[in-house]
Amino acid sequence: MHLKLALNNGASSSLFSPSSSARMMLAGSSVRILPRRAGYAGAYSISTAVQFYQNRQLELYAAKEAQRLTLRQLVFFGRCMNDERLIKSANYVRTELSVRIAHRLRDMQSLPYVVVNQEGVTKVYELYWTAFDKFRRYPPINTLAENDAFCVFLRNLLDEHKTAIPNLSLGLSLSSPYLAPDRLDSFMRRMLSSRISRRVLAEHHIALSKSASLKRNGGPSSQDHVGIIYTGLGVKDSIDKCARILRKRPHNIDQDFVESVESDALWSDVIVDGHVDTTFPYIREHLEYIVFELLKNSFRATRIKHSNVHQLPPIRATVVAGKNDVCIRISDQGGGLLTPEIKSPSDLFSFSHIRNATRLEDARLGALRTVSSSRRGMTATVDEQISNWQQAKQNDESEEDIGDGPHPRLGIGLPMSNTFATYFGGSLELVSLDGYGTDVYLRLPKLGTNLEGIEV
Ligand code: COI
Repeated sequence: MHLKLALNNGASSSLFSPSSSARMMLAGSSVRILPRRAGYAGAYSISTAVQFYQNRQLELYAAKEAQRLTLRQLVFFGRCMNDERLIKSANYVRTELSVRIAHRLRDMQSLPYVVVNQEGVTKVYELYWTAFDKFRRYPPINTLAENDAFCVFLRNLLDEHKTAIPNLSLGLSLSSPYLAPDRLDSFMRRMLSSRISRRVLAEHHIALSKSASLKRNGGPSSQDHVGIIYTGLGVKDSIDKCARILRKRPHNIDQDFVESVESDALWSDVIVDGHVDTTFPYIREHLEYIVFELLKNSFRATRIKHSNVHQLPPIRATVVAGKNDVCIRISDQGGGLLTPEIKSPSDLFSFSHIRNATRLEDARLGALRTVSSSRRGMTATVDEQISNWQQAKQNDESEEDIGDGPHPRLGIGLPMSNTFATYFGGSLELVSLDGYGTDVYLRLPKLGTNLEGIEV
């Protein structure tokens, strides 16, 4: 049976809701979807459409609850590792990721059809569907050799999914006219936090497997981290590292502008004060991702605001170790956050063009398209960025090939930082002192007892 559907890409009244989509689920039918408008971006492939309507397996997994963990559980489980526990960890990751991806696929299916059909969203839907199917079919892991193969499988998927965030950001920005801001933002928050959670589980298991294999072969056992969690992460060290990298490599500023400024006056100093000896158990990559993004914004704003000044005002990072949290306040004199497009600092976390008009700017969409289709996708960690730049330099690659190397302004850094901060129950607050500067308050729990965000 052939079903021909013509999509009206404009009026929401004619969009297919998931319930009407579900009613069209006809066993053995093939579905052909015809875009009505010329130039319509989201050509929907038959395979995607069939997957979209074939949900029985998905329903089974989506009905299960995620087994959420705390940072402390991740450390305790990984600390006394033996072969049996490693196999247990592998099978937990295998089954848990099927469930978590199923939740997100189900979530995507509940979007208006016009959204799922947007450029970028379709790609992510297909990526997730494929990953779900692979995890679901992956046989139980019983031996160390099988675990090695499972780690390779995970690594490949982690690499394949590097383009997920820019694609999703592109698709959701394009979908902004069709979704109310709250719905769009809560959907995006679930997608981002669930993705972080899946990558944490996969990366943690790979890291535990590597340490276990090193130990088996008589290598040293690591004192400072368990899997991907640093048990005594030095906050000042991470801030210094991010500042050092950023000062070496200018970001987000037009090359002409950079060249017009004397190089020794290019960037602010970063002063770290407060409880500078603070250490706490955390995922180093998460802390550094956030600090890197925040400092990058401060560097840029300060440079632009003080374009005629030789000595730039410093950026101050104050670290405070409280009873339950570690707090970092980053203060700059970059003029504040508010612009004609941004009326409230929290709008910078939004993917809706109603809250953040830059979402539909051509330059932003163009940059997202470039990164979405780049070979390297978007790097998830500061270390990955450095290695990308080094590799690109060695290969003499152009800056565009580096993906997010020189950071075209994608608008993903702040929403991602917010999601990283809240993942284990922390927070990120931006305070704009309009005309003067910005204070950012990052709070991260230091006891490791909070469960992962509820929406994984
Ligand atoms: C993601 O990066 O989006 C993932 O889901 C990773 C997972 C497939 C290992």
